[in-house]
Amino acid sequence: MKQAAKDRAKTPEALHALYTPIREELHQVEELLREELCSDYPFVDRLVKHGFRLGGKRIRPALVLLSAKATGRLRQEHLALAAAVELIHTATLIHDDVLDEATLRRHLETINARWDNEASILLGDYLFTRSICMASAVDGPFACRAIGEAARTMCEGELRQVASRGNYDLSEDDYLTMISNKTAALTACCCRLGSHYAGADVETCEILTGFGHKLGIAFQIADDLLDILGDEATVGKSLGTDLVKQKPTLPLIRLLNEAGDRERAEVVDVLSRSDNHRREALLAWFERYDAMAYAREKAVWFTQRAGDELDKLPPSEARETLRGLADFVVARRH
Ligand code: IPE
Ligand code: IPE
Ligand code: MG
Ligand code: MG
Repeated sequence: MKQAAKDRAKTPEALHALYTPIREELHQVEELLREELCSDYPFVDRLVKHGFRLGGKRIRPALVLLSAKATGRLRQEHLALAAAVELIHTATLIHDDVLDEATLRRHLETINARWDNEASILLGDYLFTRSICMASAVDGPFACRAIGEAARTMCEGELRQVASRGNYDLSEDDYLTMISNKTAALTACCCRLGSHYAGADVETCEILTGFGHKLGIAFQIADDLLDILGDEATVGKSLGTDLVKQKPTLPLIRLLNEAGDRERAEVVDVLSRSDNHRREALLAWFERYDAMAYAREKAVWFTQRAGDELDKLPPSEARETLRGLADFVVARRH
């Protein structure tokens, strides 16, 4: 691909184009969210509306809808499930912004910055519970159980992350299982729900779940790269918080593994400084050990493994869009 075409593939417009086969359904999901997010109490209404205005990339609803189309028939139930997973995702972001003391999310002030941590915690809980109510509208306990399990796994991932702050001995495997918990559990759940409610057999649902899981890992590695290299105005959220909060992510783990003892001590010293220039101070180190390129290759590797899962499905437009989405999550600039 020529450079200009590669750059275009990373933009919001590219994502918009990728969504063409599910445009109408995504629009209906937005409508459902709009109906869902209101309250008779003015303060609560303002908060949930701010939460709704937090328009994100909607990757998780798209995974539900596309997994359905790639494996069977997209039904009315999928719309409610797509809205439910977006509510879970938004709730975790609102809570995550408290943990990271972030001030910007989806190009707007975070709830914790605009209001406070108390409002953030309660709004996150509010969105969690609305999500479960929405998911309970579909037949049987399958959806609620799947969403409940994914949310529990995400909390475990975030808790493990809190526990590993400042642990610069964290192994790459531990990092991968942690991001698998905090991020890939939900993307896998989205694909499972999409295929299950489309009437796919158990084997096909497992293929889709495997796809969603690998895409999620690639997604988080790319997100961790953006946290170091990204541009806040483009990404629309606070960046650099991983280093500030001393979270060991893949580029850093790689750097620390590759550096000799003396250099490693220097890097740890930079990380423990309380000034705001860790990112700048570490860029040359990342460069020296090719740590960014290493992490990017890992993300691409997971995308390719996600693609291997798709190869097991019959060809379809939705299958190719899922492939495009897997490529997008590592190429993205936002
Ligand atoms: C950000 O997710 C949180 C992570 C799991 C890294 P997204 O990048 O999908 O956020 P939105 O929904 O587009 O804002
Ligand atoms: C948190 O990861 C992902 C969740 C599951 C909430 P990050 O802390 O990297 O997410 P961002 O970068 O703030 O979106
Ligand atoms: Mg965060
Ligand atoms: Mg991040």
